[in-house]
Amino acid sequence: MLRIVTYPHPALRYESKPVTRIDEDLRAKVAEMFDLMYEARGIGLAANQAAIPLRFFVLNLTADPDQADQEQVFINPEIIKRHSSVQEEEGCLSFPGLYGDVKRAKKIRVRAYDLKGEPIEIDADELFSRAIQHETDHLDGKLFIDLLAPSKTVNAKVKEIESAFRADQASGIYPDDATLRKLLEDAGQD
Ligand code: NI
Repeated sequence: MLRIVTYPHPALRYESKPVTRIDEDLRAKVAEMFDLMYEARGIGLAANQAAIPLRFFVLNLTADPDQADQEQVFINPEIIKRHSSVQEEEGCLSFPGLYGDVKRAKKIRVRAYDLKGEPIEIDADELFSRAIQHETDHLDGKLFIDLLAPSKTVNAKVKEIESAFRADQASGIYPDDATLRKLLEDAGQD
């Protein structure tokens, strides 16, 4: 049973392992991640946000499960071009209630594989571009708080989210950090 993990779960700083094989297990994980994402009303979710240490993310800019034709899966994504920059407000499902302006490339080109294993190369701008950059960062263990201008409000909210996670650990919902890291090391594909 997957769940979206919140900061500072070690999975969020984990540099994801490349996907080596698209099989039934991976397709099941993808389907479960879309469910989690819709439930949380998000537009994107990286595998390590579900404590899966593999390099892929799911996206549906409509956030609407009835528009499944808008679903996209990016496997082993690499951003190969960035053009210009733009600042917009962002949030993240691993930081409930935290929003802030983040400067990112305006247009990008991304190379990845889709769920059929076909290579894809996509030029993206606006929200599409931002979402791909945000999710690819996740897979590299980078978080949007790294890009936020520091402020008392941001710091207070991050501390609050951190306290909630530590409370979940204390009540046994999650094991300690060392155990979580070990689980990440051991998980993945053969
Ligand atoms: Ni995020």
